[in-house]
Amino acid sequence: MNPAPSAPSAPSARYARRRAQLAQRIGKGVAIVPTAPERTRNRDAHYPYRYDSYFYHLTGFTEPEAVMVVVAGENPRNLLFCREKNAEREIWDGFRYGPVAAKDTFAFDETYTFDQLDKVMPDLLADQPAVYAHLGGDSAWDARVLGWVNAVRERARTGVAAPRDIADIHTLLDDMRLIKDADELNTMRRAAEISTGAHVRAMCAARAGGTEYQIEAELLHEFRRHGAQSPAYTSIVASGANACVLHYVANDATLQDGDLLLIDAGCELDGYASDITRTFPVNGRFSGPQKAVYELVLAAQAAAIAEVKAGNTWNAPHDAAVNVLAQGFIDLKLLTGSLAEVLEKETYRQFYMHRTGHWLGLDVHDAGDYKRDGQWRALQPGMVLTVEPGCYIRPGDGVPAAFANIGVRIEDDVVVTEKGCEILTSAAPKSVADIEALMATR
Ligand code: GLY
Ligand code: MN
Ligand code: MN
Repeated sequence: MNPAPSAPSAPSARYARRRAQLAQRIGKGVAIVPTAPERTRNRDAHYPYRYDSYFYHLTGFTEPEAVMVVVAGENPRNLLFCREKNAEREIWDGFRYGPVAAKDTFAFDETYTFDQLDKVMPDLLADQPAVYAHLGGDSAWDARVLGWVNAVRERARTGVAAPRDIADIHTLLDDMRLIKDADELNTMRRAAEISTGAHVRAMCAARAGGTEYQIEAELLHEFRRHGAQSPAYTSIVASGANACVLHYVANDATLQDGDLLLIDAGCELDGYASDITRTFPVNGRFSGPQKAVYELVLAAQAAAIAEVKAGNTWNAPHDAAVNVLAQGFIDLKLLTGSLAEVLEKETYRQFYMHRTGHWLGLDVHDAGDYKRDGQWRALQPGMVLTVEPGCYIRPGDGVPAAFANIGVRIEDDVVVTEKGCEILTSAAPKSVADIEALMATR
């Protein structure tokens, strides 16, 4: 018999509390949230399994083939459908909870095996005013949910009423996920700590003649040896001109003396992402033009971080970064015209073409709207976002040769607080002096 994993990474109470919150938001109706399917990579090889973030947020349950149901109303109930205990399968795949152990461990009122889903769901939906489910993401799931609703409709002549409304559950859950609670913030702090250690390790390991993939290996080693389950996204290890490819993931070039190395990498710990970018010289010393561009991006990041506080809008950090970058591009003679013209015509987009951040949480690009009723959303304590301005100078008409192929991004993870923000990732060096001092110790 396989032993249970060292228990869920977090006590069940936090998940039960979130399900109670969801029930309260629904009022009366039934919410249905499935976890993610397993996916084949090729033949009998699977992609590493990753549960669905919405499902995990409400359950802490990490096995595939599971569905959570919350019945909200006078008699609220939490149900979990999961894989049955199966001694034969557990020899091959390892421990599974099964409904009996899952009920106590994950604080559900009722648990069933996954194959009972189609039988039980129509009963649960009978005489309920609304179903909350996410439709449109997977046609097989859509058909299944609608099949349950239709099964209830077929009972109309027995006096049973089918749900009148089908509403999107993600819309409700996005708002819940957007504000991180104390447990989530603690996990994100630890994920950030592991990832900052990985960036320090990468700076110490970089040298001309080495390769991008060797540095990627150092990052992954550091993530895993501290218990992070995986990278939160494919690591970008981009030297020289590769840094100007925003989603560069080949990571197969040789590091050259005199080049910068841009690393965008972060681990996922117990479901939560970290997302850090640092850019530093392979040889440990910034050249004049590299330093000029780097200091500009760093100043843009500082201006953006200064705008992260409760009450400011989502767009305030982006606007601050763009203002600093646009003026800097003019000063460096990368662009001509006045600041007003560069902003108005958006010519700065030649060198800065992405946004300054995104929500961060269970997904690296986390759940939550950026606008409400056409207005940028106000920042609130407990929101977590990245601040990641950059500058990417592809060679071209009018680009001074000294700056060609320089790509710089600096990215930190920050929590909104009443008065400002908490930077989770400041342990990864980012001033020119701190980077050069660390790299001199190699
Ligand atoms: N690493 C993904 C991003 O920065 O958005
Ligand atoms: Mn990011
Ligand atoms: Mn990133």
